[in-house]
Amino acid sequence: MSATDAAIHASGLAKNYGGKVQALAGFDLTVPRGIVFGLLGPNGSGKTTAVKCLTTLARYDRGTARVAGFDVAAEPEQVRARIGLTGQYAAVDELLSGRENLVMFGKLVGFRSRYAKSFADELLERFGLAEAADRPVGHYSGGMRRRIDLAVSILPAPEVLVLDEPTTGLDPQSRNQMWSAVRELVRGGTTVLLTTQYLDEADQLASRIAVLKGGRVIAEGTADELKHQAGGDQITLVVRDAEDIPLAADVVDSVGGTYPQIEQEERRISAPAADRIATLTNVLRALESRGVRVEDIAIRRPTLDEAFLSLTENRTRSSDSEVLSS
Ligand SMILES: Nc1ncnc2c1ncn2[C@@H]1O[C@H](COP(=O)(O)OP(=O)(O)OP(=O)(O)O)[C@@H](O)[C@H]1O
Ligand SMILES: [Mg+2]
Repeated sequence: MSATDAAIHASGLAKNYGGKVQALAGFDLTVPRGIVFGLLGPNGSGKTTAVKCLTTLARYDRGTARVAGFDVAAEPEQVRARIGLTGQYAAVDELLSGRENLVMFGKLVGFRSRYAKSFADELLERFGLAEAADRPVGHYSGGMRRRIDLAVSILPAPEVLVLDEPTTGLDPQSRNQMWSAVRELVRGGTTVLLTTQYLDEADQLASRIAVLKGGRVIAEGTADELKHQAGGDQITLVVRDAEDIPLAADVVDSVGGTYPQIEQEERRISAPAADRIATLTNVLRALESRGVRVEDIAIRRPTLDEAFLSLTENRTRSSDSEVLSS
C-alpha cells in the first residue's frame, strides 16, 4: 500500500520532550482505510504523543506523516478538516443539553437547521443518549460524556477518527456502547485509530494492532499474528503420576523438538506445537507406547495478554523510553 492510499502513514517519527524524554523514537505506522486499528502499549510508551503528532496537536522533530492523504507537517489544515479527535472536552458546552450541543455543532459544520435536528436525534439514539438528550452535558456521567464527545466528533463525518483510550474508566456497559458506536462508524466507512491499554479491547475491536514500546512499533499485525509471533500454539499436557514427568518431557522434546517447560506441582508439561494436530497425535501415540498415563492434553493458542507481555517485556527490554543524559 502506498503512503497516499493509506488512511495514516508515518515513517521514522521522532519526538523529544524538553531534550530529555525521547517519546517517539522512529515511529513507523501504516493504517489501511476502513478499519479499526489498535495502538497498544504500556504506560509511557508514546501512544498519546503519536496521536498528538498525527492529529497536528504536537510537532514531531523528524520523520514524515500523512493522514487522509495529506502531509501532516506541510498541510495541517487539510489534515484537520478530515479527522475527528476525541478528548478535546472543551468543545462540548457543559451548560447545553446533549441535543443542543449536537444541533449547534451540526449547524457549525454547515447542516441546515432541520437536518441538524434530525441528525442530532439519530446520533442520540445511536449512542444510547436518547433518554439523557435534554439534560445539561455538565450533569452527564463519565460514560455518557465520552459518548456525547464521540457523537460531536463524528458530526463532520471525518475520514479518520482518532480515539485516545476511549474507554478507560468506563463500566462494562458503557464500554460496550462505545464499542458498538465505533463498529457502526467503521461500517459507514470511517477509519478509526484507537489507543488502548486493554488487550481485550484491541482483540474485540481492531482488525490490526501495533504494539508500541519505547516510542517505536515493535510488532504489528492481526491479533492472531501477534499471538503467533509471541510463540504460537502450545501443547500442554498433565500426567497422572509425577514420576512420569521426565519421561513425558523427553517424549515431548523428541516429537516437538523443544525441551518443554515443566510445572512440577501441577504435573504439567508445555512446549511449542507448530503443527498443532500432528504434534498432538504424535505426542499422544508416543506417550501411550511408553506407558505414560495422561490426565489432560490440549493445544492452546496464547492469549493476547500473553503475546503482549512476551512482546513488551522480553523482546525490547533495552529500548524503554530512553532518557538522554543531560
Ligand atoms: N508534555 C510532556 N513533557 C515531557 N514529557 C512528556 C510529555 N508528554 C509525555 N511525555 C513523556 O513521553 C513519554 C511518552 O508519553 P505518552 O503520554 O505519549 O505515553 P502513553 O503511551 O500515552 O502513556 P499512557 O498509557 O500513560 O497514556 C513518557 O515518558 C512521558 O513521560
Ligand atoms: Mg496516553
